[in-house]
Amino acid sequence: MGSRIVVTEMAKGDLPFLFDLWHMREVMRYADEFPRLRGWSKSDDIESAWEQYQMKRCELDKEYTQLILRLDDDTPIGESFFAPLEEGFTFGKWQKPEGIISVMGDLKLLPQYWGQGLGTEGMRQVVRFVFTVTNCELFAVPPHRNNPAAYRVYEKAGFVLFTGMRSWRNHKIMEISKEMYRERYGD
Ligand SMILES: CC(C)(COP(=O)(O)OP(=O)(O)OC[C@H]1O[C@@H](n2cnc3c(N)ncnc32)[C@H](O)[C@@H]1OP(=O)(O)O)[C@@H](O)C(=O)NCCC(=O)NCCS
Repeated sequence: MGSRIVVTEMAKGDLPFLFDLWHMREVMRYADEFPRLRGWSKSDDIESAWEQYQMKRCELDKEYTQLILRLDDDTPIGESFFAPLEEGFTFGKWQKPEGIISVMGDLKLLPQYWGQGLGTEGMRQVVRFVFTVTNCELFAVPPHRNNPAAYRVYEKAGFVLFTGMRSWRNHKIMEISKEMYRERYGD
């Protein structure tokens, strides 16, 4: 079965959709902004958000990307964002492996689309995007310990729990390497 989800980089016209999504309490309940603030997501000013996104993209390249998830009729239903981790980055006891290009990201869907397998399909597309479009070698996600749906979606997309700590600031770490991606996705 082909995927019902299309994943593309954000365009300026997607910003109102993102701002609406980020104002929904149930969407944001477990979604702290790790690994850092995008720098612009708390602003509802489209011009300045767009400018800041472009500046970050120039500075950090493709490893810093805001994605939009759509149904195949173009309806936006969610977003995923990932950003590169600096050398020496730590998350509790988890450490970015030295010399390995690594990103950290997440996933959010409009609530009316939850529970239909769309998050899983979307995350698989995001993983494929990360390992084919960017130079990333390791993709990490920090699901909240009280968010089993996120944990399950990441697990089904191929992420494996880092067992070196229970949680840090209530978040666990899961990761998928490029090698794991190739084995699992056959690309
Ligand atoms: C997390 C999120 C992306 C999941 O998307 P989704 O489309 O509902 O996910 P799917 O339907 O593909 O799969 C959900 C899985 O979680 C499981 N699940 C859902 N609620 C669960 C619960 N309370 N306990 C255990 N498992 C649960 C489902 O059973 C399903 O697994 P299964 O296929 O093995 O049965 C969505 O809930 C969301 O956007 N939440 C708000 C933002 C958020 O918290 N993002 C996460 C990190 S920031």
